[in-house]
Amino acid sequence: MSTLKVGVIGVGGIARVHMPGWAASPHTEVIAGADVSQEALDKWSKEWGVPITTTNSADLINDPAIDIIDIVTPNSYHAPLTIAALEAGKHVICEKPLAATPAEIQSMIDARNKSGKLLMTAQHFRFKGTSKAMKAEIDSGALGDIYHARSWMLRRIAIPARPGFLMKEHSSGGATIDIGVHILDLTLWFMGNPKPVSVTGVARTEIAKIPGAFSAWDNYREVPSDIMDVEEMALGFVRFENGATLVLEVSWMLHHDTPGEDMQMWLYGNQGGAHWPKDEIYTTNYATKQLYNRALQLTKDENEAHAQECIEFAQAIVDGAETSPVPAEQSLQVSQILNAIYESQKTGREVLIADL
Ligand SMILES: NC(=O)c1ccc[n+]([C@@H]2O[C@H](COP(=O)([O-])OP(=O)(O)OC[C@H]3O[C@@H](n4cnc5c(N)ncnc54)[C@H](O)[C@@H]3O)[C@@H](O)[C@H]2O)c1
Repeated sequence: MSTLKVGVIGVGGIARVHMPGWAASPHTEVIAGADVSQEALDKWSKEWGVPITTTNSADLINDPAIDIIDIVTPNSYHAPLTIAALEAGKHVICEKPLAATPAEIQSMIDARNKSGKLLMTAQHFRFKGTSKAMKAEIDSGALGDIYHARSWMLRRIAIPARPGFLMKEHSSGGATIDIGVHILDLTLWFMGNPKPVSVTGVARTEIAKIPGAFSAWDNYREVPSDIMDVEEMALGFVRFENGATLVLEVSWMLHHDTPGEDMQMWLYGNQGGAHWPKDEIYTTNYATKQLYNRALQLTKDENEAHAQECIEFAQAIVDGAETSPVPAEQSLQVSQILNAIYESQKTGREVLIADL
């Protein structure tokens, strides 16, 4: 098979961490980039030595030489670009969140099914060694049935203080879909992607609107609160069809003790519990009345996780896999829960996923 040719749409911050993956894969070569900003294109083209650039993403999507479209734009453009690329017969890897609403993701799944190509959500946390080891341990039955999980992704005064994230027009939402999507995707994957049935949630902003609020993560940039119309925080209590439950907490802006980001998960099964990313398993011997803590064996990551997801996507195409390493159906479940949090914030009540 000849090398798969990749076109990147949206050559900003996160495109930069996909590029080493395309370079490391034996199956791919990036041949072109598109962006609405000529300045971004010039910088990217020089940095990565890719000569073909365009400010019209349709040029890439309709280029017969291109096999894979890598969508790395702000969230609101994910669905239309993905659908256009699938309709043009390309395989698509798209940054998280796959799209803002379950309806958009369903349209992307329909386009994928029609095209027969692969569609993958770039949920890079799945590609970390700590995640792979935990997933393998859970799949071996170490925890038994997981009946409850607690997960959070909490940042200490670390909002992405940029229009692409803070204006709903571009981002489609705030911390809920920006970072909620990371920890929720990982938690559901570990839990075996049970079907969510109902959600009680809160989505709010407290700190970002305080005059002088800034981001310790984003070069101490002041929050442009005049243009910010998304939430900084989300909380959710989720019930699943199999009886399991989940408590979720995410925020860009908290007076929290951990500098930067505190991302953790506890999984509780009837045979054992687990903590990620410590990657420890907790079990009980009822006969001897002993409690055990066991650390999982980790192997060193071959590649940084964003690079690894690109490598594994290309490999799935080469292998003729029926589904991508992160199928859109799983992102649909994630989106149903996140949208139910928004709906629950509006109504002040529990939301049934079936009613969304
Ligand atoms: N997986 C992760 O860890 C991670 C981290 C950050 C961002 N992201 C995701 O990556 C995406 C991009 O985020 P970023 O931080 O790279 O943003 P960014 O603002 O740094 O880059 C986005 C680029 O897209 C371009 N762009 C905007 N609209 C476009 C359009 N319609 N067509 C073509 N180009 C367009 C912008 O000019 C910019 O160069 C978002 O969906 C975000 O959620 C993922």
